[in-house]
Amino acid sequence: MRPLLTCSLLTAAFVTAATPPAPAPGSAPEAAPASPSAPAGPILPERKPDVIYVPTPQKVVDEMLRMAELTPEDVVYDLGCGDGRIVIAAAKLRGVKAVGYDIDPERVKEARANVRAAGVEHLVRIEQADVFTLDLTGANVITLYLLPQLNVRLMPQLARLRPGARILSHNFDMRGAKPVEVRHVTVEPGGDGDFFVDEDGNHTVYKWVVPWEPEVAPR
Ligand SMILES: C[S@@+](CC[C@H](N)C(=O)[O-])C[C@H]1O[C@@H](n2cnc3c(N)ncnc32)[C@H](O)[C@@H]1O
Repeated sequence: MRPLLTCSLLTAAFVTAATPPAPAPGSAPEAAPASPSAPAGPILPERKPDVIYVPTPQKVVDEMLRMAELTPEDVVYDLGCGDGRIVIAAAKLRGVKAVGYDIDPERVKEARANVRAAGVEHLVRIEQADVFTLDLTGANVITLYLLPQLNVRLMPQLARLRPGARILSHNFDMRGAKPVEVRHVTVEPGGDGDFFVDEDGNHTVYKWVVPWEPEVAPR
């Protein structure tokens, strides 16, 4: 049976899973990040992801891209791209250029392999990066599946996007910015990424258009 979680429980599940457990007393310290001169070994991220990897179900990806109203001139960035499914789907749907960013080298490797397998290397690039360090002004469509507080942390970067740019977020709002559209998507239980639904068993997609309207009262 899939977990039915309220938004706050859902957030807690993402954060808890992304937070490493404290080391047991007397255990070896955590491995230091790999440096360019480090001997070959397991690939380690330069810093830990702010949120665990959970894929967006394909039906929700499709809804996000529908709500984005893509045209072939658009450039899509997925911030925390996981296996690359959103940028790959955008390229296949409208022939747009797209970049997926992820901090986790394993996800980057997987996403690059998926881009190759989908035959969209001429349109899609996957980069290893911390999304909080990025200049996002090259995009006019941004997709997110992070956490509410991470969306808020991205607001200064997102506010610099060109007027008319669209921001789509799976499951998480962006406190202080009023969405222009909110849609709910019901996904059949048991599918890929079928986790973390709300109390009604739905996934939610939020859409904002830059410049967004400030949200004065709490929803
Ligand atoms: C919930 S998954 C979403 C994956 C994909 N966007 C999707 O919807 O299927 C969040 C992803 O963000 C990545 N991530 C977490 N913190 C990050 C950061 N600061 N910079 C870049 N990527 C990050 C994780 O490695 C993970 O792959």
